[in-house]
Amino acid sequence: MSAPRLQMEHVCCHFEGREVVCGIDLTVRAGEVLCLLGPSGCGKSTTLRMIAGIERPSRGIIRADGEVLSDATTHLPPEARGIGLIFQDFALFPHLSVAQNIAFGLRGTAAQNRARVDELLERVDLQGYGDTAPHMLSGGEQQRVALARALAPRPRIMLMDEPFSGLDNRLRDGIRDETLALLKEEGTAVVLVTHEPEEAMRMADQIALMRDGGVVQTGAPYNIYTSPCDKDAAAFFSDINVISGEVHGALIETPFGQFLAPGVPDGGLVDIVFRPQHVKIDFDRGGRGPNPTPQDGVPALGHVKRARFMGHESLVEFRMDFDGGIVKVTVPAVFLPKPGTPLWLTIRRDRCFVFPNRP
Ligand SMILES: Nc1ncnc2c1ncn2[C@@H]1O[C@H](COP(=O)(O)OP(=O)(O)OP(=O)(O)O)[C@@H](O)[C@H]1O
Ligand SMILES: [Mg+2]
Repeated sequence: MSAPRLQMEHVCCHFEGREVVCGIDLTVRAGEVLCLLGPSGCGKSTTLRMIAGIERPSRGIIRADGEVLSDATTHLPPEARGIGLIFQDFALFPHLSVAQNIAFGLRGTAAQNRARVDELLERVDLQGYGDTAPHMLSGGEQQRVALARALAPRPRIMLMDEPFSGLDNRLRDGIRDETLALLKEEGTAVVLVTHEPEEAMRMADQIALMRDGGVVQTGAPYNIYTSPCDKDAAAFFSDINVISGEVHGALIETPFGQFLAPGVPDGGLVDIVFRPQHVKIDFDRGGRGPNPTPQDGVPALGHVKRARFMGHESLVEFRMDFDGGIVKVTVPAVFLPKPGTPLWLTIRRDRCFVFPNRP
């Protein structure tokens, strides 16, 4: 197989003696989208700036198509990397026309450049806007010009730092889907920074979940969502419910039945983590719930604390009888039981995660 378009091996970055990013290993192939996802300050932009060549790694190797961009002895300047950039404040040059903005990074003859600009204007659906000044365009149109400008020199890698966050929701969905389609057609490898899990799930072939300057988990959106590496990784993608318990004989007894905790020693504490959509609700039948099953375990009684309609689903919060704690449940469509209603909850065994409880 050919060398990956982008490869980072154990890349670190220091600022003033403080390690803000460390041990980054990532691979992105041509036509693939990698999302760096994580909370504010975790090192997403710093990672992007090292790939771009704006920041120099303190350790590690960055390669593109097998060629070293940065290592202990080499540090190619940004303009020699064949990398395109789109940042959140994608400022267009205000004194240049749309066409001049797009042609800015082109090195061909005037005729070649004109042809490339026309091709890109068409691709971003702005034919006829070449002579317009940027300030005459809407935010979404300006965004498309910025995309065309970044794509014009045919970068092998496109780096995007929260490029869609300045757009209103309605515009954003359309523009990010169009942008992705375009980048895929051009075979560009994309590294997209976002702190929104929905955006990452929608856009990414691979998500690299970052925390405190490192990547804690990498995988396809489905894998990251359904097999999170720890409680915080699970919590990054949705509300979660947690019940804690002590392990005896590789088992934990809970009001929802027994759970397996293979490999955890006796007396070890674990968290059983489950998402609100994986809880089933049953009506009370004279003080009894449904019969226990291997799939759903044992029902536990809770009383509705409040129920809210969220549009495509309803969110119901329960106060559990067994410990007074809260369990959140989402139900498709409209389900708005009155506060105080007793209902029985079971949780889907196969959708629960059992993690060692580390203080
Ligand atoms: N030039 C710099 N000098 C010193 N510290 C820096 C510098 N740039 C970033 N940092 C620090 O590095 C850490 C990571 O910053 P970075 O901008 O990469 O985070 P981020 O994940 O992009 O966050 P956000 O989502 O808020 O943009 C932060 O603690 C930040 O304060
Ligand atoms: Mg940032």
